[in-house]
Amino acid sequence: MTLEGFAGTTSVVTGAAHGVGRALAHRLAREGSRVVVVDIRAEDAAVVADELTAEGADALAAACDVSSRHDVAALGERVAAWSPGGVQVLCNNAGVFTPRHAATATHEDWEWVLGVCLWGVIHGIEEFLPGMVASGQDCHILNTASMNGYVPSRHSTLYSTAKYGVVGLSETLRMELAATRVGVTLLNPAAVRTNISRAEETRPTRLARSRQDPDDAAFADYGLSPALEPEQVADLALEAILSGREAVFTDQVLKPLFEQRFARILSAFDVLPGPAAPGPSDG
Ligand SMILES: NC(=O)c1ccc[n+]([C@@H]2O[C@H](COP(=O)([O-])OP(=O)(O)OC[C@H]3O[C@@H](n4cnc5c(N)ncnc54)[C@H](O)[C@@H]3O)[C@@H](O)[C@H]2O)c1
Repeated sequence: MTLEGFAGTTSVVTGAAHGVGRALAHRLAREGSRVVVVDIRAEDAAVVADELTAEGADALAAACDVSSRHDVAALGERVAAWSPGGVQVLCNNAGVFTPRHAATATHEDWEWVLGVCLWGVIHGIEEFLPGMVASGQDCHILNTASMNGYVPSRHSTLYSTAKYGVVGLSETLRMELAATRVGVTLLNPAAVRTNISRAEETRPTRLARSRQDPDDAAFADYGLSPALEPEQVADLALEAILSGREAVFTDQVLKPLFEQRFARILSAFDVLPGPAAPGPSDG
C-alpha cells in the first residue's frame, strides 16, 4: 500500500537538526504531519522543533544518538507517549561521513561510521517497524543511503560499507514487507549543500580519531553536478514516498557510473560456460 498523504500522520526523522533531515522535517510538517525531530545535537534539534511549532505544526525535539540501541529504545518510549496513535513515517536519515582509508583507519573510525550510518538505520527499524506492521495502517520507511551505497569513491571505504548495507537492508525489507501496508524507499543523494563536512563535531569522545587523514577531497573523482539544496532533496523524497517508488537519485551524472559498475559485475559472468546448446536428441 502507498501512503496517500502526510496529514494526520506522525513522523520520526533522525538527523533532523540540520541538512536533509531538517528539510524533511519542515516538509513533512508543512504537509500536516506531527514530527519528532531526532538528533544527537540536542540544542539544534530543539531549535528545529521550535521552528516547526512557530509554523503551526506539532513537533517534539528528541536528543538521541542513533548508534546507541539504548538511546533509540528510550526514543521509542518517548514517541509512544507523545503519539499514542503510533508512527506512520520513519525517516532513518542521520549519517556521518569521514574520508578514511582502511589501511589507516582505527577500529573506532569503523565503529563510528557504521554505528551511525548502518546501526542507526537498524535501530530505527527494530524500534518502530513492529508497531507499523501491527497497526495495519499505511506507513512508510525512508532510509537515507547515498550514491556511495552503489558506487564507491576514493576514501569512502567506511562510508560505502555502511551505505551498501543500508541499500541491501532496504531492498530486502521492501520485498519482505510487500504484503503489508508498510512501504520502503531509499534516498540516495549525490552532492547536497549540508553540514556533513562538520560531522566530526558529533563524534563521541570515546571513539578516537584515525591515525591519518587522506590528503585530497573525498569526492574529487566524480565530476558531480553542483550540490542541491536540502529542500530540493526533501521534495524528491516526499514525492517518491507518495508514489511508492523504491529509490530516489539526485544527479544524472551518476547514471553512467552505475552502468560501468553493472557492466563490470556482469563481465564476471563471461568466464562461465554458457548453457549447453540443445543437441539433436533433446526434445
Ligand atoms: N550531504 C551530502 O552530500 C550527502 C550525500 C549523500 C548522502 N548523504 C546522507 O544524507 C544524510 C543526511 O546528511 P546531511 O548531508 O544532511 O548532513 P548534516 O551533517 O547536515 O546532517 C546530519 C545530521 O545528523 C546528525 N547526527 C550525526 N550523528 C548522529 C547520531 N549518532 N545520532 C543522531 N543524529 C546524528 C547531525 O547532528 C546532523 O544534524 C546522511 O545519512 C548522509 O550520509 C548526504
